Amino acid sequence: MTTSEKNPLGVTALYTSQAWIQGSLPEADLFDTRSGRTVYQGVTAIYRVARWLRPGMTPILAGLLHRHLMIDHLLEDQDPGQVLELAAGLSARGARYSAGGAPYMELDLPPMIEAKRRLLGRSLRGRKILARPNLQMVAGDVTNLDMDALVDPKRSALVIAEGLHMYLDVATQRRLWRTVAEGLGRSAGGAFVFDHFRHTPSQRPGPISDAVLRTMSGWQRRIGFRPDRRSNKALVRDLRAAGFHRVEIFRSRDLTRRWALPRPGEPTDIVLLLAHRDGATPPPDSRPA
Ligand SMILES: C[S@@+](CC[C@H](N)C(=O)[O-])C[C@H]1O[C@@H](n2cnc3c(N)ncnc32)[C@H](O)[C@@H]1O
Repeated sequence: MTTSEKNPLGVTALYTSQAWIQGSLPEADLFDTRSGRTVYQGVTAIYRVARWLRPGMTPILAGLLHRHLMIDHLLEDQDPGQVLELAAGLSARGARYSAGGAPYMELDLPPMIEAKRRLLGRSLRGRKILARPNLQMVAGDVTNLDMDALVDPKRSALVIAEGLHMYLDVATQRRLWRTVAEGLGRSAGGAFVFDHFRHTPSQRPGPISDAVLRTMSGWQRRIGFRPDRRSNKALVRDLRAAGFHRVEIFRSRDLTRRWALPRPGEPTDIVLLLAHRDGATPPPDSRPA
């Protein structure tokens, strides 16, 4: 696969595609690749060292699974009229959820969409998913979204962005939020869910620890990590300034058992924000019969 050459973030999508396979998530096996397995082994080794240095750091596999399944939980809960998943990568959520018939649109950069189609095309099961009329895979850029072209104005929408914000600087995040909020506002409204990532400081300071953590930070910078130190309060303020009417925060540490998340013995610190925006008109799909 050449996505990683054209788009360094493609590497991270390869990594997460393997995390979904490790977690036995339905349909994740459709996106199995040899390059994904190689990336997964390398990154897992780096994180093992990093976790030894920062014992408080979220265990990466449990963290990813909690993040992914918490978003699935909110998706079921919101039961939107349509889903727009930004930066969908090699996630199998669209392949799973579109089985129910609701419109589901996945958007990612052109090489990733091309790779995803190719991977689905390898098997009969994948080709059947590709052929679903309610599942669309669209090449696009989250920094330049045309919401009016992406959402059906007559249906409430849930916009999902998983594993994306840590690669966007704060100004780009704010622009994206405004675009999404205004797009939802012009149509039937809905919500936007995304994860927010914060660094954990080193808990074993010392020359070796500092050197390893510097190497890891350098690698994270190379794949595009942007430090974002905003508090939850600041995030909520910024989301409201972008045009969202109400913001909810969900933390894995409060929900692991209540939402029956896997690996409950591995505490994680995933933070999801769910920002709601009323629409111009009430969605017909939510009106009482
Ligand atoms: C860490 S992966 C997450 C993939 C998927 N959401 C998941 O959780 O498995 C980040 C994804 O963001 C996509 N991406 C990065 N920059 C983007 C942009 N400007 N527009 C659209 N997608 C982008 C990458 O191609 C990659 O698929």
